[in-house]
Amino acid sequence: MQKLSFGEPFIESRYLEGDMGFAVSGAAMLLNLDEERDIVIEGEYKLPPLQAMVVRDAVIDVPGKALLVCSLGTLDLDDLQTLDCMRKGWKSNYELTHLEKHRGVPFFKSPRVTIGNVTMNFCLVSEPGCPSGIHREHPAPVRELHVQIAGEAYVDLMKSADPDSMYASLPLTAGITHMPTWNADGVYPWHRYRTKTRSVFLGVEIADE
Ligand SMILES: [Fe+2]
Repeated sequence: MQKLSFGEPFIESRYLEGDMGFAVSGAAMLLNLDEERDIVIEGEYKLPPLQAMVVRDAVIDVPGKALLVCSLGTLDLDDLQTLDCMRKGWKSNYELTHLEKHRGVPFFKSPRVTIGNVTMNFCLVSEPGCPSGIHREHPAPVRELHVQIAGEAYVDLMKSADPDSMYASLPLTAGITHMPTWNADGVYPWHRYRTKTRSVFLGVEIADE
């Protein structure tokens, strides 16, 4: 078990690898980062690869790798002081890219952490009803997940880069992720992340090993 600092001071997280019989205290988001092996909760319930769920005061067996986000449900995005601290502590998309299209976009990102072939960062979207850009390419071939940590959101699938061409929506609530959006060849449909309420999500990119 390794404590990770990339979400702090707002979000406490831990990386697990080959940790059998690990005791989770309180409510936590558990993400299975392994692409082959299940995580077993309380010796009976299986969390499949690249899926997430909420566990509470539970013993888990992680034969592969996993991320735990602790104290789930304690981050209050309706508290304006918290929101302000996060906006100041994390970097806006515009600060990160200096692209004109990102000016004023309310996405604020934590530092990134890379462990082996997995890269992750948290992202605050401080406005409801706010979409990311629509895209289908990523900088490198990756399996991309959005894990909802606070608030409610969607990953929308689209026929084209036109926002009116949405044909499916994958709902996200705190503690879960969506089904894979890539096909067997690693090709994605046009897609975007869109908040319903103010949100924090964990962006995950898993590269080929
Ligand atoms: Fe994407």
